[in-house]
Amino acid sequence: MTTAIGQPLERVDGRQKVTGTARYSTEIPAPGMAHACVVGARIASGRVTAVDASDVWEEPGVLAVLTHENLPKIAAQPPLVPSLFGGPAPGETFFPMQDDVVHYGGQNIAVVVADTHERAQHAAALLRIDYEESDSVTTIEQGRDQAYEPEAIFAGFLPGRTARGDVEAGLTQADVLVDGTFDFAANNHNSLETSGTTALWDGDELLLYDGTQGVNATQLTVAALLGIPLSKIRVVSHFVGGSFGSKAMIWHHPALAALAARAVGRPVKLALTRAQMFTSSGHREEQEQRLTLGATSDGRLTALRHHKLSPTSPFDDWAEPSLSSAAQMYTCPNYEGVYRLIRANTMTPTFMRGPGDSTGMFALECAMDELAGRIGVDPIELRLRNFADVDPASGHPWSSNGLKECYERGAARFGWYDRDPEPRARREGNWLIGTGMAAAGYPAPPPGTPQRARARLYADGSVVVQAATPEFGTGVATVMTQVAADALGVPVEHCRFEKGDTDFPGIAAAVGSAGAGMISAAVHAATTELREQLIAEAVADSGSPLHGVNPADVLVVDGTMTAGAASETYTDMLRRNHRPDAEASGTWKPPGMDIPYATLTFGAQFAEVAVDPELGLVRVRRMTGAFAPGRVLNPRTVRSQLMGGMLWGLGQALLEANYMDAGTGRWVNSSLGDYLVTVNADAPEVGIELVEVEDTVVNPLGVKGVGEIGQVGANAAIANAVHHATGRRVRKMPITIEDLL
Ligand code: MOS
Repeated sequence: MTTAIGQPLERVDGRQKVTGTARYSTEIPAPGMAHACVVGARIASGRVTAVDASDVWEEPGVLAVLTHENLPKIAAQPPLVPSLFGGPAPGETFFPMQDDVVHYGGQNIAVVVADTHERAQHAAALLRIDYEESDSVTTIEQGRDQAYEPEAIFAGFLPGRTARGDVEAGLTQADVLVDGTFDFAANNHNSLETSGTTALWDGDELLLYDGTQGVNATQLTVAALLGIPLSKIRVVSHFVGGSFGSKAMIWHHPALAALAARAVGRPVKLALTRAQMFTSSGHREEQEQRLTLGATSDGRLTALRHHKLSPTSPFDDWAEPSLSSAAQMYTCPNYEGVYRLIRANTMTPTFMRGPGDSTGMFALECAMDELAGRIGVDPIELRLRNFADVDPASGHPWSSNGLKECYERGAARFGWYDRDPEPRARREGNWLIGTGMAAAGYPAPPPGTPQRARARLYADGSVVVQAATPEFGTGVATVMTQVAADALGVPVEHCRFEKGDTDFPGIAAAVGSAGAGMISAAVHAATTELREQLIAEAVADSGSPLHGVNPADVLVVDGTMTAGAASETYTDMLRRNHRPDAEASGTWKPPGMDIPYATLTFGAQFAEVAVDPELGLVRVRRMTGAFAPGRVLNPRTVRSQLMGGMLWGLGQALLEANYMDAGTGRWVNSSLGDYLVTVNADAPEVGIELVEVEDTVVNPLGVKGVGEIGQVGANAAIANAVHHATGRRVRKMPITIEDLL
């Protein structure tokens, strides 16, 4: 029997997306809507000493100027909780405009509201603010001396230090040491849709149209900040134009939009500008990682020491978890991972695609490549010699693995073994040609709370499934029709997925590659419940041909329930009983974090580069990725996610950087002209192999997720290829022209 799951179904909203009729949250009009602009601090540290809005009020259409002098105080700042855990998820434990203190450049210090966007923007530029500036620390270099070791990072969810065995003893035993310091530029998310919120009050009830990875996260956070009941806040977010972590935590603008709308008595839209996306919705922190590998002369790891140093905000101990997958990839008895932080005048860093692992695995996989070269072993062979049969961190078995097959199939498709391992061995005209590979690992984390959905089958056979999740850009709405169709036993064309509304059953924010797994589990639960309910009704119905059969013997195909020779369609049964529809809800309770399994998604990445050594140019000529993401619900959307991740890895390796001007404490590259991301002209041929390994642990359909794994390791494969081409080991991201001259 063919199933809808596994078919390369086209996106149900594809036409809407490409024609622009799919509306982002701030494109939804509201009657009488006013427009708000936020004003960011021009200093990195100090105080606002005076606000002069007289020129602003000279302008036509101005409705409000909100600053710390008149913005109503927030009710409470909720604790920082990663948005996968079902609580409020503020981007930082700081809410602006409560006093005159400036903690970082770009900090929101005023909101100007006017009747049109242009008037608000112009008026906001006329607001005069005087500051008293104090010394700031904004870079690792400035703050190195004051680094501290936090008890925990990542909102308290991960320890600041982990160890197994005796790392010093392991390093002493080693025949070979590889030691390097890796530097990573800060990164910013550059989703097509900038962040924004439209707030509409109706009496004491608030409706928010918000660009968010989780409507429930927005609802919980704004309710806590404003001190209003959850039942009075509805959040709607149908289509999200990319987010990559920037819309995972809930930054200040949704609550500011609500406060502004209350102040002017009209709906207010507050959309961040592109430049404000660099200062008001989080970033991946600048970081330095020192990684030391010890190995025997035949390449077996005896020790891995991995230390990370990075700036965080004045309020939160946040570091992206770079020491996670890298601590689990290889069997290594002696390990030490330590985070160190610097209190800096920046906002709290946040999730950004491949959070943690795309940098941590870069360091590890570049070091493994170096080790392979030092002992003269093929890089894949070295990785196989250190293959982890169980999770070396916990000792638990893997819920599923597939890494060896990723190496095999990736290498075969790429043509890996054609290479001469010697660097600088291949030249085409001015170009030095190199190939490189890296392993990839990314957690398949279970969400912290139950995930819910609701399904309704109408008497005409059409199906609607509802869950609160937005279509966050991956094709989730398409894939959920496939999940519903199979569980109910109906054609996929009959199913529709409604989404993005807190009035629907709750789904945690789609974070950490968990979206498809947790939402499909909820949809599967609801539609399975509905099928069982319909079968139970038929079996109990004296008018049904199925009356009295064992429910367990009933199969449903194409909307027809069949047991042996007896059969009846769902629709016949409902119509005979004068029922317009049947409905069921379903809940998936995640297995929890303390299951006796380790859940990582694995992959292997390969890249070929051409480097012009006189110009320092790097061109990525082709990339191959092989991934074992559990069950593949839709190969078309899965490939698209993985390809996007791999091309992101290219950008991280060669392009993406935001640099801090330490003198002013302000970001330098805050525009799409200065902050480079991969575009079509950079994109090489990308080949993708899907290794489907069954996983019965992570969730009912065995989906481990593809949101991040495509990116992890792609950057290291490119850096390793650059080394192979040139003989230069560049331990940083991005690798720029200067590094190769
Ligand atoms: Mo994703 S970067 O964990 O939102």
